[in-house]
Amino acid sequence: MAEIQLLGMTHYPPFAWSDDSMAGIMRAILGDPDIPAEAKDPARWPAPMAAEWGADAGRAAAPVHRAQLIEGFDRVRAELEAFDPDVILIWGDDQYENFREDLIPPYSILAYPDRVVRPYETEVAKRFPGYWDEPDDFEVPIAGRPDIARQLVADLLADGIDVAYAYQPLHDDQLPHAFLNTVLFLDHRRTGFDWPVICMPINCYGSKVIASRGGWKPFGAELVLDPPSPSPRRLMDVGAATARALAAGPWRVSMIASSSWSHAFLTDHTWRLRPDTDADRGLYTALVAGDHATWEATTTDAVVHAGQQEVLNWFALFGAARELGASLSWSTFVETWIFNSNKVFAAWEPTGR
Ligand SMILES: [Fe+2]
Repeated sequence: MAEIQLLGMTHYPPFAWSDDSMAGIMRAILGDPDIPAEAKDPARWPAPMAAEWGADAGRAAAPVHRAQLIEGFDRVRAELEAFDPDVILIWGDDQYENFREDLIPPYSILAYPDRVVRPYETEVAKRFPGYWDEPDDFEVPIAGRPDIARQLVADLLADGIDVAYAYQPLHDDQLPHAFLNTVLFLDHRRTGFDWPVICMPINCYGSKVIASRGGWKPFGAELVLDPPSPSPRRLMDVGAATARALAAGPWRVSMIASSSWSHAFLTDHTWRLRPDTDADRGLYTALVAGDHATWEATTTDAVVHAGQQEVLNWFALFGAARELGASLSWSTFVETWIFNSNKVFAAWEPTGR
């Protein structure tokens, strides 16, 4: 009989960078000439934001933020070790990595076999000094379960969820960072990570996936917006159907939503200088309360306004929790003003036992 464990975490790329670089996204945004000088003036920022930025552009705050994230990774890792799944399914965003102009599926399943990836050969890793002192050709084996992935695709299609699938990468020979970082961060102590992984990318970036290449352009740039992401409600249904399919099988499965919450660089109403923490707190309160209705009523426009595109991964997860009747056993909200995004970690009681 299947047993299902639900977990949520972040794949925040600057965790893999040095303390000195961790506030690099904010420093880059502050260099945008299209953002007015008043908005960039720390004297006009909320007091906790100015305090976190400090006199050293966030360098002293970096180890504090890192310690909070390590606490989250260690807790999620401990939950995984206690459950010891046969396979881990990860919902993550593809930020103009594997999917580009020639194909943007709303969501898909990467039914990859065992792979070996080289994290330091990815584009982002090349640009910043790293947190780990590892050689450029450092290799990470990532096991797959294409047999389970194939069955999952078949079950989803039978359930009315027309999911795309792939047996090999389209553009990203490594693994999109949402998935790779999830493995690297859960194994940040480098003790090993043997659980097989099935990646389920979601087109979280929607209208900006190609227009901003899953990142950002200068504030004043005219964007030719792409079609939107799947809606939050639809992704809850996709998550529910995924849980339903796996719960009917024989496997012990951990399902992880991997992403930070509101991203400063996606939040125009804060001049991209800080995340929309009020919007994040609203969703988090509903998550803790098991209030699926509030999440179901969230619109794509609200998600985009709040820079919460990546939270769409969590909509799939919360849809799975709704389907399974799973109860939240632990969660924490890591708030930050200057490190681009708030982060949430969460675990639900395993179901099916
Ligand atoms: Fe991401």
